[in-house]
Amino acid sequence: MTSADSIIGQKIIRLDEVSSTNNYAANLIAKKNPIEGTVILALKQGSGRGQFDRDWLSEPGKNITMSVIISPGFLPVHKQFMLNILASISVVDVLTSLFSMDVKVKWPNDIYVNNKKIAGILIQNFLLGSNIRHTIIGIGLNVNQEVFPPELHLATSIYIEVGRRVDILITESKLIQELDKNYHLLKEDEDLLRKIYLSRLLGMDEQRRFELSDRTLEGRIVGIDDYGRLKVEEKGIVHTYDHHMIRMIL
Ligand code: BTN
Repeated sequence: MTSADSIIGQKIIRLDEVSSTNNYAANLIAKKNPIEGTVILALKQGSGRGQFDRDWLSEPGKNITMSVIISPGFLPVHKQFMLNILASISVVDVLTSLFSMDVKVKWPNDIYVNNKKIAGILIQNFLLGSNIRHTIIGIGLNVNQEVFPPELHLATSIYIEVGRRVDILITESKLIQELDKNYHLLKEDEDLLRKIYLSRLLGMDEQRRFELSDRTLEGRIVGIDDYGRLKVEEKGIVHTYDHHMIRMIL
C-alpha cells in the first residue's frame, strides 16, 4: 500500500499533557469534521480513562497513550464490534512482529501476555442514524514502565516482558501503520479480519474455566457472533455471552 492510500496517521497531534487523548479527540469531533485518521498522542494524561469508567494509569513519557479518529460511515451500528477487532489485532500484531511476544486478545479487547495485561482499548462511537459517523479508538500500551502500583498487579509492559527498554517512537509508528492496514482490510475483507481476530484470541478452542454471575463454567470458546458476543461450548451446547456476563479465569 502506498502512503498516498494511508488514512490513519494523515495528521498526528503530539501533546505534552492532556486530560485524556480520548477527550481531546471528542472535542475535535464536537468542533465538526475532524480529519479522518487524526492521531493524538500524549506524554501525560491527567485523567486517562479506561473501560467501565475506570481510570487508566500510565507513567508519563514511558508508554503509548493514543487516540485515533476514524469515520467509518460504511459500517452499520450492529457491526461496531469490528472496530474492537481492528484495534485489538493491530496491537497484538505490532507486539508480535517487533518484539516476538506471545500476545493474545483476552475477549473482548484486552491485550494480554503471560496472563498479564499489556494494553487496553477504549472505543467510543458517534452514531448517525443506523451508521457510525465517527469513532475514537483509544489505546493505552505499556511500553517502558518498569513498575506498576500494587492495585495494577495484573499489569505488565514491553520492558518487563522483553527485559529491555524499547523505542517508543518506532513502536507507535508501527502501531499507526498496522491500524491503517487493518482499517483498509475492514473495508475490503471483513471476514478475514474476523478470522485473524479468532486466531489471536486467548483460549480459543481450548478447554477453560469461566466465571458467570452464579456459577463457574468449564467450556471451550468456539467463536464470537456477529455482535461480538462470546460463544462458549459447554457439554456440547453453545451458549452466547455478553461482556458483563462472563469472565475467563486465568
Ligand atoms: C481499558 O480499560 O482497558 C482501556 C484503556 C484505554 C486507555 C487509553 S490511553 C489513551 C486513550 N485515552 C484515554 O483516556 N483512554 C485511552
